Amino acid sequence: MADGAARDAEYSRRVAAVFDLVAPGYDLPALRFFPFAADRLIARINPRRGEKILDVAAGTGAVALAAAQAVAPDGRVTAIDLAEQMLVQLDAKRRKFGIENLDVHVMDARHLDFRREYFHHTVSSFGIFFLSDMLAGLREWARVTRLGGTVTFTVFGAQAFQPMMGLFLSRVQAAGVTFPENSPRRAAERLQDPEVCRSLAVEAGLTDVSVEREMIGYHLRDTNDWWEILWNSGTRAALEQLTPEQQDALRTVHDAEVAALASADGIYLNVETLVVSGRKQAGSR
Ligand SMILES: C[S@@+](CC[C@H](N)C(=O)[O-])C[C@H]1O[C@@H](n2cnc3c(N)ncnc32)[C@H](O)[C@@H]1O
Repeated sequence: MADGAARDAEYSRRVAAVFDLVAPGYDLPALRFFPFAADRLIARINPRRGEKILDVAAGTGAVALAAAQAVAPDGRVTAIDLAEQMLVQLDAKRRKFGIENLDVHVMDARHLDFRREYFHHTVSSFGIFFLSDMLAGLREWARVTRLGGTVTFTVFGAQAFQPMMGLFLSRVQAAGVTFPENSPRRAAERLQDPEVCRSLAVEAGLTDVSVEREMIGYHLRDTNDWWEILWNSGTRAALEQLTPEQQDALRTVHDAEVAALASADGIYLNVETLVVSGRKQAGSR
């Protein structure tokens, strides 16, 4: 295997391993910003009954489950993700809710096993920054989207999770964790700029590109809720680089600094979200 391909495969393996680990806790109430953001994304594309939708990096199905209801009964949603355990959770919810128009596949977002121009809409919520080459990924998503259809993704805005996330990142970095330029963390930081999102979509060949800012905020009850977010989402990758003793020590000091931010209502979680959407037109690649 060529060096680049081997590096890519190893990168994907590590991303999938983290999400397999967090899957059981991913739907805890503290992390309800994922389904809240999914609702905003669905409202943006306004799917119609009968349409076919692809949810890329679907996770436990926040977008896919809502989309399946929107296009039912004759429309269909396909959900793909690299992490099998995330899809196990999705499938359990699909069965629990009796949703029959939703298919689930383990698949890499960078190489979709679908024919070109198959889906009316391709969506991905908080997935794009996990791709080592985001532009190539977005072009691949556009490839499987019909002419006139949309490609829509969400990313976190600059204020999302602040000031807690800044405090947490300082703590893990002080403990020796680094975030290389090609890490999801750095990619997510670059995408906090709406103009970077817009340029990416335009460069991928999409037209009528819009970037809308959605504020999704709520109060966490206590520092335990905040730790549940850190432990059961992508930030787990950083914590996994520490020993259990280092994790405990970090949590003690970090809990104290986050507790100091609490008001009578709890600890406010700001989830500034950017919804980026463009249309595939004739001539789009
Ligand atoms: C932050 S979660 C978002 C999940 C879901 N879209 C949501 O909004 O709740 C990111 C997801 O991207 C998936 N992922 C990361 N890289 C991927 C890739 N190359 N192909 C497919 N899925 C990927 C992870 O396994 C994880 O489930």
